Amino acid sequence: MSFLDKLHNLKGKVAVVTGATGQLGKKITNAFVQTGCVTIGLDVTVNEANKIEGGDYYELDIVSKEGVMDVFEKIITKYKSLDILVNNAGVSTFAPFEEREEKDLDWVMDVNVKGTFFCIQTFVNLFDQHQFKKGAIVNIGSFYGVVSPDFRIYTDTPRKNSEIYGATKAGVIQMTRYFGVHLADRNIRVNAVSPGGIFNPANPQGPEFLKHYSFRCPMKRMANDDEMIGAVLYLASDASTYTTGQNILVDGGMTCW
Ligand SMILES: NC(=O)c1ccc[n+]([C@@H]2O[C@H](COP(=O)([O-])OP(=O)(O)OC[C@H]3O[C@@H](n4cnc5c(N)ncnc54)[C@H](O)[C@@H]3O)[C@@H](O)[C@H]2O)c1
Repeated sequence: MSFLDKLHNLKGKVAVVTGATGQLGKKITNAFVQTGCVTIGLDVTVNEANKIEGGDYYELDIVSKEGVMDVFEKIITKYKSLDILVNNAGVSTFAPFEEREEKDLDWVMDVNVKGTFFCIQTFVNLFDQHQFKKGAIVNIGSFYGVVSPDFRIYTDTPRKNSEIYGATKAGVIQMTRYFGVHLADRNIRVNAVSPGGIFNPANPQGPEFLKHYSFRCPMKRMANDDEMIGAVLYLASDASTYTTGQNILVDGGMTCW
């Protein structure tokens, strides 16, 4: 195999993707299946319509530490390895902050921060226990973990991005740095991909929002969900062996001004 082929080769690796039946999760799961990874999708609800052929799926609420441990142990028992973890599961809440209820704050914190933490903690503990040699963790952040939403563009959508979402995504990006540093000597790399706004064909953003977003974005459009895949595969593969603790913003230049 040539050096260039080796850089991106993921064949036979065991990859776990959380939030695997959602919009981006399906694309990421599909990409790992296509690369020849043993690909395991985890989600709170898994239905046949959202499964990718060739993927293996488990229902899991990542907020349950015991649940995460149980499923990750099952995966290792079945596949004898666990090489890649993509923490993609994430939720948000959209009511105006003046009306935010504590239960909604807790829910977004629990899934985005605590759930991501439990998956990383379990991955690392099992990695140590089984004396695995190399691991890669990719966390899905958000450009709203880096900058505030510009509310001038949210004119015809009720999905106004919330303060708690941005706070949790900033938390995910910071955890990425923390674990990038603290897991470096165990040969586990930890990085993040932070998408800009992704167009959702199944539940499209309003025409006014799309117009304003496109005006605001240097690349003059929202992202397609498959435009996140290159960065995820790069960070999961040996193409990025000297990269850890980093956050790649895949946002069409939105955070550059
Ligand atoms: N769509 C965007 O514009 C955008 C932009 C930036 C970042 N992101 C991030 O990308 C990731 C994927 O987002 P998406 O747009 O595909 O959203 P989505 O809602 O389509 O998918 C999220 C998935 O996570 C799952 N999930 C929620 N809570 C869970 C839990 N407790 N345990 C396990 N699974 C759980 C959901 O069931 C769902 O399938 C999220 O982390 C999101 O914050 C999305």
